Amino acid sequence: MKSTTVISAFLGTILVGLATAGYAADKTDARKVDIGKAEYEQKCTICHGALGKGDGAYSVMLKKPATDLTTLSKKNAGVFPFARVFETIEGTHELKAHGTREMPIWGKEYRSSKYYDDYLHDPESDRSYFARSRILALTEYIYRLQAK
Ligand code: HEC
Repeated sequence: MKSTTVISAFLGTILVGLATAGYAADKTDARKVDIGKAEYEQKCTICHGALGKGDGAYSVMLKKPATDLTTLSKKNAGVFPFARVFETIEGTHELKAHGTREMPIWGKEYRSSKYYDDYLHDPESDRSYFARSRILALTEYIYRLQAK
């Protein structure tokens, strides 16, 4: 019994070691592991800017400039407005009570078949789960962009 425990502990250490080594190796290509950053660069930089300051190339074409995403916590008494950010990206939180919103809605897009064909290649997988995990990664990335 006792030797089994020792062996399990030993194997556990090796597995943790391997997992850590794999993670460290992946870190050399940050885009590989940083889904939030990759999604942001693909979809949001154009309006919100590379650092989230709202100075993306397309921002000047908008009626209202894209929001500076780095000051969301500051403007909310130091608390990151997690749910609002998530829902804004998803499309469930309307930015304005009236009028059309210029910011695209991503929830629908992530659930579209285009994403399924490009990323998952599996018609059986759960679309809502995929959409939520991408939006969650984006929300967490925006959290990391907050000014200190
Ligand atoms: C076509 C330009 C455009 C693109 C692309 C875009 N946004 Fe926006 N975004 C805006 C505009 C404009 C606003 C402010 C609209 C308003 O207040 O009515 C905004 C607002 C926001 C807000 C609300 C901030 C707050 O005050 O709560 C968040 C969060 C946000 N965008 C995140 C994103 C993310 C994440 C992406 C990429 C997935 C993205 N945006 C892509 C134009 C864009």
